Amino acid sequence: MPRNCYFLSTWTQERSMKWLVIFGLVAFSECLVTIPLRKVKSIRENLRDKEPPAEESAPQKNISQQPLRNHLDMIYVGNITIGTPPQQFSMAFDTGSSDTWVPSIYCQSMACVTHNTFDPFQSTTFQLPGIVIDLHYGSGTMTGLLGYDTIQMGDLIIKNQTFGLSLTEDDIVFEHAIFDGILGLGYPSLAIKGTTPIFDTIMNQSLISEPVFAFYLSTETELGSVVMFGGVLDCYYKGDLKWVSLSKPHYWQIPLERISMKGKIVACKRACQAVVDTGTSLMIGPRKQVYNIHKRFSGYYLQDLYVIPCQDINTLPDIVFTIEGIDYPVPARAYVQKSARGLCVSTFQGRRSRSTRKQLWILGNVFLRLYFTVFDRGQNRIGLAPAV
Ligand SMILES: *[C@@H]1O[C@H](CO)[C@@H](O)[C@H](O)[C@H]1NC(C)=O
Ligand SMILES: *[C@@H]1O[C@H](CO)[C@@H](O)[C@H](O)[C@H]1NC(C)=O
Ligand SMILES: *[C@@H]1O[C@H](CO)[C@@H](O)[C@H](O)[C@H]1NC(C)=O
Ligand SMILES: *[C@@H]1O[C@H](CO)[C@@H](O)[C@H](O)[C@H]1NC(C)=O
Repeated sequence: MPRNCYFLSTWTQERSMKWLVIFGLVAFSECLVTIPLRKVKSIRENLRDKEPPAEESAPQKNISQQPLRNHLDMIYVGNITIGTPPQQFSMAFDTGSSDTWVPSIYCQSMACVTHNTFDPFQSTTFQLPGIVIDLHYGSGTMTGLLGYDTIQMGDLIIKNQTFGLSLTEDDIVFEHAIFDGILGLGYPSLAIKGTTPIFDTIMNQSLISEPVFAFYLSTETELGSVVMFGGVLDCYYKGDLKWVSLSKPHYWQIPLERISMKGKIVACKRACQAVVDTGTSLMIGPRKQVYNIHKRFSGYYLQDLYVIPCQDINTLPDIVFTIEGIDYPVPARAYVQKSARGLCVSTFQGRRSRSTRKQLWILGNVFLRLYFTVFDRGQNRIGLAPAV
């Protein structure tokens, strides 16, 4: 059976005519598989250094934790259930889009044969408004129907949540995906018109005490990753959270001052913008700027991938992202990953840029593994701190 090599890229863009969500699932010619380059300090170890433990410092907060499974340091998926009695689905938790959907029994695509499908007839709480939706992706499309049902995520029980039931799914994109559906954590302005994204429903139904959620993404270990809703557990990061206001509460988009190596600016010369996206595996930037970074290494392009000699990894400098005066270094062990064929490949990837979005960077899971990230809907800001 052919091994499916892909990375999820759910970067969304509005279309002027329709409120459709676009995201790309870019096929990879070369599997990126990470090899252990370092040992991760365990949360337990870190807790030992902290006084008092997080749980005791915030006893009355309703923080709901949803465990995520790390798939090859590329995608992080978590289980939710939909309906009464519950039907279980594995979801990609995506801050780059705002809609939630799962495969359905109405769908005959191969992608629906290979995944869990939602059966509305088996749920006593299901309601069907019958509105047809289509979500357009970089490499294909998904069409579906809108429905309402109870969704359980961690210990949150969300009543009457809108979600999509797929009718068709692009097989190239979804057939071998390790998740059944997508759970969008973006702003309502990005969602299908007239629908309320799941986190907005959570806030509306007062299921949490603070309108925030946060991701801790593990490195090289399948277990231990988590998305928490309603508050922040400080055992997952070191030091203080540094807050950055969103450029505009629409995408999870923040201003970036510069990208440098050894004190020299290598990209984002006159400041730029970056989107923080858990649905994107890699670091995506304008093609020319990414090229400008790569040309500092003694490597070569293999199709879209940039190959770096493996023996260089230990001597390569950090690539430093400066955000509101604070440096966020990305070390070589994070920006180089080992591929299935044993090649060392850059996790920076160029994107053909449209004129209006020329400077836009996407900080994907490569960045989010290094920095614990809080998404604050209450104050429209992002909090960052080094992950444990
Ligand atoms: C999700 O459910 C599957 C099947 O029940 C289970 O094997 C897996 O460990 C669960 N994943 C998480 C992150 O809890
Ligand atoms: C569910 O939500 C939809 C849209 O927000 C609303 O029209 C419908 O009446 C709700 N149903 C229930 C049972 O609350
Ligand atoms: C829920 O929140 C959304 C977005 O914040 C808002 O537009 C909508 O009216 C709210 N719905 C209810 C039922 O309160
Ligand atoms: C916390 O959760 C409990 C039960 O899950 C609920 O009764 C309570 O209202 C919640 N508190 C807040 C502040 O949301």
